[in-house]
Amino acid sequence: MSVLSGKNVLLGVTAGIAAYKTTYLVRYFIKAGANVQVVMTPASKEFVTPLTLSTLSKNPVYSTFYDKEDENEKWNSHVDLGLWADLMVIAPPTANTLSKMADGICDNLLLATYLSAKSTVYFAPAMDLDMYQHPSTKGNIEKLQTFGNIFIPPSSGELASGLFGEGRMPEPEEIVSFIEDHISSNLPLQGKKVLLTAGPTYEAIDPVRFIGNHSSGKMGYALAKQAESLGAEVTLISGPTNQQLPDSSVKIIDVISADEMYDAVHDNFKDSDIAIFAAAVADYKPKTVANQKIKKKEAVMPIDLEPTQDILASVGKIKENQFLVGFALETNDELENAKGKLKRKNLDMIVLNSLQDKGAGFKGDTNKITIIDKGENINSFTLKSKTEVAVDIFNEIIIKSDA
Ligand code: CTP
Repeated sequence: MSVLSGKNVLLGVTAGIAAYKTTYLVRYFIKAGANVQVVMTPASKEFVTPLTLSTLSKNPVYSTFYDKEDENEKWNSHVDLGLWADLMVIAPPTANTLSKMADGICDNLLLATYLSAKSTVYFAPAMDLDMYQHPSTKGNIEKLQTFGNIFIPPSSGELASGLFGEGRMPEPEEIVSFIEDHISSNLPLQGKKVLLTAGPTYEAIDPVRFIGNHSSGKMGYALAKQAESLGAEVTLISGPTNQQLPDSSVKIIDVISADEMYDAVHDNFKDSDIAIFAAAVADYKPKTVANQKIKKKEAVMPIDLEPTQDILASVGKIKENQFLVGFALETNDELENAKGKLKRKNLDMIVLNSLQDKGAGFKGDTNKITIIDKGENINSFTLKSKTEVAVDIFNEIIIKSDA
C-alpha cells in the first residue's frame, strides 16, 4: 500500500509548459489511493484545462477566489484548501511563482493557499535552461527550502525551447515516488518491527465445538493499520476474526488456539521492537480434546479445564529492549487491577478498558481507554472510534519508547 493512500493531496499548477504532465500526475496520485484537489493559477489554464484536471481528480478545480459564473459568487477559501491538505505539491511552479512564494506575495488563489497551508509543501520547478540557472531562481529555491518546503529537483534533457540541460519537470511517476520515499523515510516507526496479537482464541472441546469469546479483533487490526501507516514492518498474529487488511503489507499469521498463538508469538518476539497484545486469549482450555464429536447425554456433562499459558507474561520474562504493551479489560477496581497486570507481566505500558464505560470493550467500533505506563502515569481518553484509539496508543508508544 502506498503511503499516499487516504492522504489529501493539494496540487498547485502554474503556467509552465510542463503543466501538461499534471494530468498524469493527478492520475498517479489517485492510483496511489490519494484524494486530489487542484488549484491553478489563472494563466496555467492556457496550458491544461480545468475540465481535464477536474475530471481526473473527481473534484472541482479552483483558480480564483470567486466563481464569477456562479450567481451566488461562492468564495473559494484558500484557508479551507490549505487545512484540507495533508500535503501540497506545486508542480510546476514557474520562476514567477517561485519568486512570489519566496517573498510571500499572494496575488492569486494558489499563492494564498500556499501561504496558509500547514502541511509539507513539495515544489518541482520546471523552466528553460537559463531561467533555471539564473541566480535569482537559485536563490528563491534555496530560500523556499529554508522555510521547510521540499524541493524536487528538475531533470536534465531536451527542454521545450530545444535547448538541452537542467529544467525539465521530472516525470509524474518520479514525482510520486520522490514524495512517497520522502514521507516513508520521515515516518516515526520507519525501520521498526511491530508485533501484534488480535482477536479471540478458540479452544477445542471436540472436532466441532470450542470455547471462545466475543472479541472481534477490531482493536488489534486498527493497531496493525496504524503501525503500518507510521512506517513499521508489522506482524499480526490473529485469532479467528472477520477482519481484513486489504492492500496492506502487514504480515498476518492466522492461529486458532492459545497454544498456537503462544508459538507464533515466540517465533517472532525476539526480532520485534514493539509488541502489543490486544488479543482476548482464552484463560482456560479443555484438559483433553475428544477425537470424535461428543454425543448428547441426558445427564450434566462436565468439561475439565486447565489454564492456558499466559503469552504476555511469558514474553515479559524474556524481554530485552522490546517495548511491551498489554491490554486489560476490567469490570471493577480497574486501575488497581491494570497496575497489577502491568507489574506482574513486566510491561512498559498497559491499555485499560473498563466494561463500566459505555462504548468500551471488544465488540463495538468504539473504545474508551486509559493508558498507564511503568512509572504509573495515567492518561485517560474520551470515547473514540477504534481507529482514533489506535492513533492515541501509538502516539503514547512513540513518546514513551523514544521510537
Ligand atoms: N494475555 C495473554 N495470554 C493469556 C491471557 C492474556 O497474552 N493467556 C494478554 C492479553 O492479550 C492482554 C493481557 O494479557 O494484553 C491481559 O489479559 P487479561 O485476560 O485481562 O488478564 P489476565 O492476566 O488473564 O487476568 P484476568 O483474566 O484475571 O483479568
